[in-house]
Amino acid sequence: MKTIATPAPAHRLLPPGTAWPLQPFDFHAPTRIVFGPGTLNRLGELARELGDTRVLLVTDPGLEEAGHPQRAMQSLRDAGLEVFLFDAVEQNPTSAHVEAGVEFARPLNIDLIVSVGGGSAMDCAKGINFILTNGGTMADYKGFGKAQKPMLPSIGVPTTAGTGSEAQSYALIADEQTHMKMACGDRKAAFHVAILDPEVTVSQPARVTAITGIDALSHALESYVTSKRNQLSQMFAREAWKLLAVNLERVLKEPGELEARGAMQVGAVLAGTAIENSMLGACHACANPLTAHYGITHGLAIGILLPHVVRFNAAAVAPLYHDLAADSGFIDLEQNGHEATAAEHLARRIVDLMRVADLPTTLADCGVSAGILPVLADEASQQWTARFNPRPVSHGDLLGLYQAAM
Ligand SMILES: [Fe+2]
Repeated sequence: MKTIATPAPAHRLLPPGTAWPLQPFDFHAPTRIVFGPGTLNRLGELARELGDTRVLLVTDPGLEEAGHPQRAMQSLRDAGLEVFLFDAVEQNPTSAHVEAGVEFARPLNIDLIVSVGGGSAMDCAKGINFILTNGGTMADYKGFGKAQKPMLPSIGVPTTAGTGSEAQSYALIADEQTHMKMACGDRKAAFHVAILDPEVTVSQPARVTAITGIDALSHALESYVTSKRNQLSQMFAREAWKLLAVNLERVLKEPGELEARGAMQVGAVLAGTAIENSMLGACHACANPLTAHYGITHGLAIGILLPHVVRFNAAAVAPLYHDLAADSGFIDLEQNGHEATAAEHLARRIVDLMRVADLPTTLADCGVSAGILPVLADEASQQWTARFNPRPVSHGDLLGLYQAAM
């Protein structure tokens, strides 16, 4: 009797208990990204395409000297839109800044929100959008997907290359009382369009370029290795890293170099997209309490902590750090391309960049006292980003990271 061979199944199932090799993901890119020198001048045309006519422009007063809000307003008006300016945004916006924006906008019958500024202005604009359209307070939107009603269309024009907020559906708003940041996310909160005009970032003060650039670099580095990393998020994080690692020093040394400025902007938006899909890690968890207690600028706290977090995580993700160190030319694969040393090269490179930027490299330099470290470790352990760190972090580990950074 003739035996008929059973064909191999088209999709072979892995044996029970085997880890699935691909991390599940739910990738969604809600933001149209328009990049290039001079693209701020297209703001009116792009706003017009969204079909709206009454614009709330959210910005911070520090930008007026550089003329960016005025250019934005002109472009919107030239396109026939009516513009209402809200410029009472401050660094690390709180729920009170958002409330002030909502109070300003409520009687104006706004149908489009435009934000021109850094992460603070963009997050504040998203916060205003939540409350203006869905009511309540910012605390009601902590977490993800809590807005039940539609939100207004919005456009983000980042004037720094840092937060990547222009590519994210989260608004980071600090609680007015505790100053702890609340991450309030919803797909509807993401900007419909992000305009990346490198000419706009040239006017940043050197310190802002450095601090926001270090923050962007950390976004690529942290999101590449998180426990939630997946093929797509890693693709964005790695490309971001390649651009940021090489160009940060260039913009620090040659602030007027437009090509490097553009590379930083693209790197920041790619890193922002990576965060949206894989979150962040222990460095961001440790940075937030420092900002809340001491007012240390986010990117500065990040730059001080990042080398220590990289060294701590090396035990879990050394091959991934090796990818990044090799990509950026920080290690010579022929000479010292061992996985075991890649993390140390990355850590030292971050410290070097902080020094090039003339930034402090220890917490003691920033006035942090040793006595508060256990309190900071308590708060860091409650930060949602801590849970995505590739190596689980206990309270003792977080305390150790702060102590190392002292
Ligand atoms: Fe950050």
